[in-house]
Amino acid sequence: MTELVHTRKELAAARERLTGRVGVVMTMGALHPGHETLLRAAREQADHVLVTIFVNPLQFGPNEDFDRYPRTLDADLEICRRAGADVVFAPAVTDMYPDGRPTVRVNPGPLGEDLEGLSRPGFFHGVLTVVLKLLQLTRPDLAFFGEKDYQQLTLVRRMVRDLDVPVEIVGVPTVREPDGLALSSRNRYLSAEERVAALSLSAALRAGAEAAERGAEAGAVLAAAHRAFDAGTPGAARLDYLVLTDADLEPGPVTGPARLLVAAWVGATRLIDNAAIHLAPRS
Ligand code: PAF
Repeated sequence: MTELVHTRKELAAARERLTGRVGVVMTMGALHPGHETLLRAAREQADHVLVTIFVNPLQFGPNEDFDRYPRTLDADLEICRRAGADVVFAPAVTDMYPDGRPTVRVNPGPLGEDLEGLSRPGFFHGVLTVVLKLLQLTRPDLAFFGEKDYQQLTLVRRMVRDLDVPVEIVGVPTVREPDGLALSSRNRYLSAEERVAALSLSAALRAGAEAAERGAEAGAVLAAAHRAFDAGTPGAARLDYLVLTDADLEPGPVTGPARLLVAAWVGATRLIDNAAIHLAPRS
C-alpha cells in the first residue's frame, strides 16, 4: 500500500514507521518510465521507498515554465503504487517554504554557474536547496537521481560530500525512447515536428560516442557530434551548448572517461541530454 502525505507532520509520522534502509526518489511529478526506472532501482536496493513530488519554485527563473509545468498527481500516484512505493510526500509550496522563499540557500560553487547554470542563473541554488531540505525531511539511507540531469547529479554528490550529508547518492542511467530521445517530463510540450527535431540531441551524442569508439581524439569527437546535431532538422533545434568534459564535469579531458553534454531549444522547450564516452589514449 502507498501512503500519500502532504504535510511535514504527516511525513514525519510516516517516516517513523519505515524500518530498515530507506531509499528516496525526488521528483517534480509528471512521472514517466524514466522515473519508474528510478523507483525500481530504489525498490531493489532499499527496504522501503519514499517518493517526493514537488514542483520547486526556487529552481524556475522568472520567464521559465513554473506555471505550465505539468501537474499530474493522480497519474503519478498510480505509477508510485504500481512501482511499490511505500510513501509519497506531495507538499504544498507553503509546507516546503512556510516562511516564504528561503533567504539562505545552498551555493553550488563554480560548477553551478556553468552549463545549465549559465543559461539558468540561480537554478542550482534552487535545486540544491530543495534537495537538502528534502534529505533532512525524509532522512533516507539512499537517494536516487537520473543521469539524464548529469550536472544536477554531479552537484548533489558534491554537496553531500562537501557538507557531510549522511546519505548515499545513486546515479541511474537515462531511459530513452527506441529512437534515442531521452525521456523527460518536458517532452510532452513538443509538437510532432518538434519531437523529430529533438532527436538532434541524441544523434549528436551517438555520433560523438561512435567517433570515440573509433579512437578519435577530443576535438574530432566534438566535431562529429556537431555535424550530427546540424544534420538533424536544420534550424529546427537551436544549440545552447555541446561540450566534452571529464566525468566530474571539469574542463578537458584529454583521455579516459569523459562526458559529452548537450542542451538545445526546440521551439519553446529547452532540452538537455548527455552520454558517457571513453577517450582513447593519444598515440
Ligand atoms: O530532477 C528533478 O526533478 C528536480 O530537479 C528535483 C531533484 C526533484 C529537485 O526539485
